[in-house]
Amino acid sequence: MGNDILTMAIETSCDETSVAIVKNGRNILSNIISSQIELHKKFGGVVPEVASRKHIENIDMIVQQALDKAKITFKDIDHIAVTYGPGLVGALLVGLSTAKALAYGLNIPLVGTNHIEGHISANFIEHKDLEPPFTCLIVSGGHTHLVYVEDYGSYKILGRTRDDAAGEAFDKVSRSLGLGYPGGPIIDKLSTKGNSNAIDFPRAYLEEDSLDFSFSGLKSAVLNYLNNMKQKRQDIVVEDVAASFQQAVVDVLVDKSIIGAKLMDTDIIVMAGGVAANSGLRKAMEERCKKEGITLKYPSKILCTDNAAMIGCAGYYRYRKGQVSDLTLNAMPNLKLG
Ligand code: KG4
Ligand code: ZN
Repeated sequence: MGNDILTMAIETSCDETSVAIVKNGRNILSNIISSQIELHKKFGGVVPEVASRKHIENIDMIVQQALDKAKITFKDIDHIAVTYGPGLVGALLVGLSTAKALAYGLNIPLVGTNHIEGHISANFIEHKDLEPPFTCLIVSGGHTHLVYVEDYGSYKILGRTRDDAAGEAFDKVSRSLGLGYPGGPIIDKLSTKGNSNAIDFPRAYLEEDSLDFSFSGLKSAVLNYLNNMKQKRQDIVVEDVAASFQQAVVDVLVDKSIIGAKLMDTDIIVMAGGVAANSGLRKAMEERCKKEGITLKYPSKILCTDNAAMIGCAGYYRYRKGQVSDLTLNAMPNLKLG
């Protein structure tokens, strides 16, 4: 393929087994995603041991599918990018061991990649002209960060959650409403039929100058509301609870992102992670950004949630900087950004 750089990317940090082939960092040749959601649904959340076992069963097949879909063979790959954290340790180790074996066998570089950096990088695939600097809101099942992306791989953390991640709050509220897993898409859909002003749930802004987040108080407020209503034998309008809860999350995410962008003097806000697929968040952020003269970007839904293409993009920029890992690389469940 001439001077093109082909990355094989592997992502197994949670409940998706995914392998992608990415050309020159931003072009997807294949992005195979095998979701385990159906398997974990009956437990109401991801069971780590079950996730690891399923990754082991799937990974070889997904690697082959990614090659076939991209119409290439192993010898065409220039380097392997792999998520080595943050995530579930057993799940991470499956992808990492596969990546190490391939890098060793093919005698090509291994590039350990940060999962959160991957989420941010999904935007480089979606928006070919996007370049740092920009302000990025990363909202997923495991992470909530407001970050100033100074350059590729260079971050200043403006704020982070002090307790639950935004997606985690969606999942927990969904569970308490008996709606199932993952909660985000279910609550998103129900919210379109509910009144977001029906219940006045709290918005946690924390200290005046803080860009940190907190969602556990909101989660408890929803639980208290549901218990009170049950005790009083009053009907619960699930759509209204969903819409009011979602609005409370969205208000804080939007306000803090705008403050962060102004603080860093950037006129671009980028969203990333599973919760960036939320239609209420997208709409509210679009309206506020328009008012403030800020450009908003986010990935298509399939690139918001976990996928290997985003890891391929992040790995490509690391590779270009010579940030190659050696084969002793270990999984880091609590790996930080930056
Ligand atoms: O980024 P992701 O696939 O995995 C992590 O790295 O955590 O995010 C999964 C999270 C789940 O908590 C899920 O409920 C949430 O993203 N999510 C959504 C939506 N789609 C997925 N949350 C709100 N609205 C959605 N439409
Ligand atoms: Zn993720």
